[in-house]
Amino acid sequence: MRHLRKKELVLLMAQALLLSLFLCACGRTEEETEDPGLLLGFSQIGSESAWRIGNTRDIEEQAENYGISLMLENANQKQENQIAAIRRFIAYKVDVIAFSPIVEEGWDNVLEEAREAGIPVILVDRDISTDKEGLITCLIGADFYNEGKMAGEYLVRKADRLGLEHLNIVEITGTANSTPMLQRQAGFFDAIAGDERMTVLESIDGDFLKSRGAECMRYLLDTYGDSIDVVYSHNDEMTLGALPEIEKAGVNPGSDLIIISIDGGQEAIDVLKQGKINCVVECTPKLGRSLMETVLKLENGEQVEPLIHPTEQIFSDEQNTSLIAPRGY
Ligand code: AHR
Repeated sequence: MRHLRKKELVLLMAQALLLSLFLCACGRTEEETEDPGLLLGFSQIGSESAWRIGNTRDIEEQAENYGISLMLENANQKQENQIAAIRRFIAYKVDVIAFSPIVEEGWDNVLEEAREAGIPVILVDRDISTDKEGLITCLIGADFYNEGKMAGEYLVRKADRLGLEHLNIVEITGTANSTPMLQRQAGFFDAIAGDERMTVLESIDGDFLKSRGAECMRYLLDTYGDSIDVVYSHNDEMTLGALPEIEKAGVNPGSDLIIISIDGGQEAIDVLKQGKINCVVECTPKLGRSLMETVLKLENGEQVEPLIHPTEQIFSDEQNTSLIAPRGY
């Protein structure tokens, strides 16, 4: 027994020596090793738009403001990268996981793993589709249905104002099966439903990308030529890709064609001021503050709102556009 204790003591001393050697090798003493404090793992979709880049920047800035350590991973537009990132957050034992799901389907397994690990999950920007209860703590993001509805209602007002009898619409949609794509389409279609002046010629997937916006517009102009009256595009990036194609075809966007966009980034607002876009519905990327406040509430064991929508506005040729303040993204 005495012999065993001696052996254990030697073992403990060896372990302590190894630990201090390791810490010295890292250039830190034990006391200097930093505790990350409250740790948030966030999986971002990618960098496909000015909106997305603004959203990432806002989350980084707000994490710093609120003293929350951030493990940020960029999934480069791939769902499998987001799933792998969430698994890394679980392995790392972060306090809270947040992510912006690129599409709605396919998250159940990894979210079950987060639940088993006891880590709360917050959805940022986009929603998921699931039959399972309790995988998600809350969703912080825009009301995409209302954005689409505001876009459709603007078009109805514009048709009234100009006394137009018939409008052929083409729709360039965001990433297939993503929440903003589904909801912006549903809200817009509902707003124009029953208005016999409106015909949707085609909806085409532009994946929220500028290059795809240009490709889609080339295809639409080749197919429908000058019978197009309205381009409804689900984000600024695709709109900004489509505009040069419209001009190359000898058509004047904003006067020959009604252009409706969503996001409200600075570049699109500048083009709205030039009269080449008629309407931009705001979708704010500034979700960082609500996210950090929710993370703190979870840490303190407080109740959180299951759904947080920021308030959003519409910018259009119905107002004095020179008064629109700088957008910050
Ligand atoms: O989910 C929000 C959408 O994603 C924005 O409208 C778009 O620009 C972004 O890429």
